[in-house]
Amino acid sequence: MRLHLPGDKSISHRALMLGALAEGTSHLSNVSSGADVLSTRQCLEQCGIPIREEGQQIVIEGQGGVFKSPEEELNAGNAGTTARLLTGLLAGRGIHARIIGDSSLMRRPMDRVVEPLLQMGANIQLSLRGTLPLAIHPAQLGKLGYTLPVASAQVKSALLLAGLASEGPVRVTEPAPSRNHTELMLQALGVDLQVSDNRITLGSGKQRIAPFELNVPGDPSSAAFPAALAAMLPKTELTFDNLLLNPTRMGFFRAIKRMGAQISWKSKLQNLGEEVGELTIRSSELRGIKISGTEIPSLIDEIPVLAILATQAKGATVVRDAGELRVKESDRIKAVCENLKRMGVRIQELTDGFRIWGPTTLRAATIRTYHDHRIAMAFAVASRIAVGKTTLDDPDCVEISFPGFHDTIRRVAS
Ligand code: S3P
Repeated sequence: MRLHLPGDKSISHRALMLGALAEGTSHLSNVSSGADVLSTRQCLEQCGIPIREEGQQIVIEGQGGVFKSPEEELNAGNAGTTARLLTGLLAGRGIHARIIGDSSLMRRPMDRVVEPLLQMGANIQLSLRGTLPLAIHPAQLGKLGYTLPVASAQVKSALLLAGLASEGPVRVTEPAPSRNHTELMLQALGVDLQVSDNRITLGSGKQRIAPFELNVPGDPSSAAFPAALAAMLPKTELTFDNLLLNPTRMGFFRAIKRMGAQISWKSKLQNLGEEVGELTIRSSELRGIKISGTEIPSLIDEIPVLAILATQAKGATVVRDAGELRVKESDRIKAVCENLKRMGVRIQELTDGFRIWGPTTLRAATIRTYHDHRIAMAFAVASRIAVGKTTLDDPDCVEISFPGFHDTIRRVAS
């Protein structure tokens, strides 16, 4: 069976923001239709960026770095990427804006972005808890040399986007490689940006962005769910075409290959510097492995579904150094451990991960999703191999990143 997935969420957010900054009209196709990316689009429109649909395309009238102060609050909804990248994007653009989010996003840390932006000279007010709401006011941004305390593509990207409006230079050092779409896109669009090892340097002076055309490749983080199901079901083979195969996003597929998954992929370089291609996965016998250290950022969003695979692997699977999971859309370590225990799995919760002993026959349970799309999708996959009928308390929250998810999973399982 072949699957063509909606566009990558991370690239869709960035493409809309860079399209807004560009000097002229950009055309995007296969943009993620999830609620998160819609939040980015609406926030940009509120800041005076015309965005429209033309057939299957999204057309953005870039204003060359000019934004207007929105009349109402910018609501980033459930999207950490919208809130954090937008804060960087707007910090040096001479406008007033207030950013809020839903109840999950209002609990997530924003100080990790605001603190380095203040060092650049930004004028941003944040709640005392270091969370949304935040208020941006006009400020002249200067240079920055900053080492990220945790590997975060959102923080890195926010600083680079702010740097585009600063006198610069902006130098960001990462403790481990995180997804590099912002760097690849900026380089492809003619911005003076150098990457050497774990350091990214954005040149001095205000940077101009050329308008562009982009067909957003399929989202590998979405692919992980049907891929996991295909690996666990008997006599199943699944091929994804036009899938994003950027090495900073492939940690899940590399890890399950180590677990024994029958998987292969072939990529070529496509527009805006991204690797794109085909990936095939078949029914597999799995064994437990250890996942930790610098590989964690390359599979951080896939850990909930990896936990489901671990329940079917022989021996122990251990995930460490993944404490960041506790500040995602929900506390994903807690959500995974609690729900897998309900399904009869032997699992030990750790401060920065978990240990799972398999294989186990999963039993039906009522799953608490915490309204977190990736928890809902991971346990929808688990429900397909469980004995009895599992129910999710909020199956619809998958719309955040993967509209059509339940249909896709049904097709893979039939
Ligand atoms: C993202 C970065 C990651 C990831 C999120 C998307 C991005 O978050 O978990 O789903 O598009 O930059 P962090 O930067 O918090 O690690």
